[in-house]
Amino acid sequence: MPSLQINEVAPRDGLQIEAEFVPTADKIGLIDALSATGLARIEATSFVSPKAIPQLRDAAEVVTTIQRRPGVGITVLVPNVKGAERALACHVDEVNLVMSASESHGLANLRMTPTQSLEQFAAIVETVRAQPQGREVFINASLSTTFGCPFEGEVPEARVLDLVERQLALGVQGVSLCDTTGMANPAQVRRLCEAVLARFPETPFTLHFHNTRGMGLANALAAWQAGITRFDASLGGLGGCPYAPGATGNVCSEDLVHMFEAMGVSTGVDLDALLKVSASLPGLIGHDTPGQVAKAGKADRRYPMPAR
Ligand code: COA
Ligand code: ZN
Repeated sequence: MPSLQINEVAPRDGLQIEAEFVPTADKIGLIDALSATGLARIEATSFVSPKAIPQLRDAAEVVTTIQRRPGVGITVLVPNVKGAERALACHVDEVNLVMSASESHGLANLRMTPTQSLEQFAAIVETVRAQPQGREVFINASLSTTFGCPFEGEVPEARVLDLVERQLALGVQGVSLCDTTGMANPAQVRRLCEAVLARFPETPFTLHFHNTRGMGLANALAAWQAGITRFDASLGGLGGCPYAPGATGNVCSEDLVHMFEAMGVSTGVDLDALLKVSASLPGLIGHDTPGQVAKAGKADRRYPMPAR
């Protein structure tokens, strides 16, 4: 059993912000290649309004066509009941509900305040629970701007704890704490992770970092040192919220796997296989990616001595 569980978000967080629509067959090929690398979960797409995120308008076709490998959970982002109904019709393993910790990002991204999002959550949980027996769908919730909001600035820790408590009271089973625009720092991450784990010890928490200010891996390490074992990460370091000014890519999956494996922390992921999939990205999206290990090679790479 690996020590960490990695949820690969490039097909969702990554492709949602690409300028060009990635053809459906390429998305399916990418997810099928990713699901053979040992990742615990893949966030395959979003069931959001196609007007809000046209890049993922092919969500249903993607989810119903990808290979479903045992042991690899398929999760999808849903903002409302309509999204949940569309996702359930495609037999996903998990729904990832999304709301913001800050009012202004909630309104910009989802046209909902946090209170309105929680009302949607209650209705979504009811929709999921109305599934026929034997169709267990895990309910996760992502809390955007947990570590700071690009419009409002600081998000108080007490508000985050209160929103998590409300989500859990509604029947949410796991929570992702998201640093949407890379505002978190390791000291803050450690403090908040310790606080949530102390207050909600039964809840699986996932940490979702963006590397906007170069602190992604440092934040992941701080979270791990606080006791977190589940991370979102994005192949090549793609990613970003189109409704959060200044957003750039997530912490890079292969860089995260490389760091933890080098430290002796098992991720369950075959890094060489993941690097191969990462090498296919520029061909899919038409540009270079920010990931570093894909360019530098692993730390055990050796060069011939220069001739004297
Ligand atoms: N899937 C598909 N279509 C949806 C939808 C969903 N989950 N939710 C709403 N729609 C459609 C409605 O049917 C309606 O269509 P119409 O104009 O053809 O009648 C239209 O979208 C507007 O619906 P409404 O309920 O008024 O939504 P809204 O305009 O207030 O937008 C959201 C709210 C949440 C649907 C929208 O802001 C959204 O999808 N945001 C997602 C943003 C995102 O993914 N950000 C990055 C990830 S964090
Ligand atoms: Zn994100």
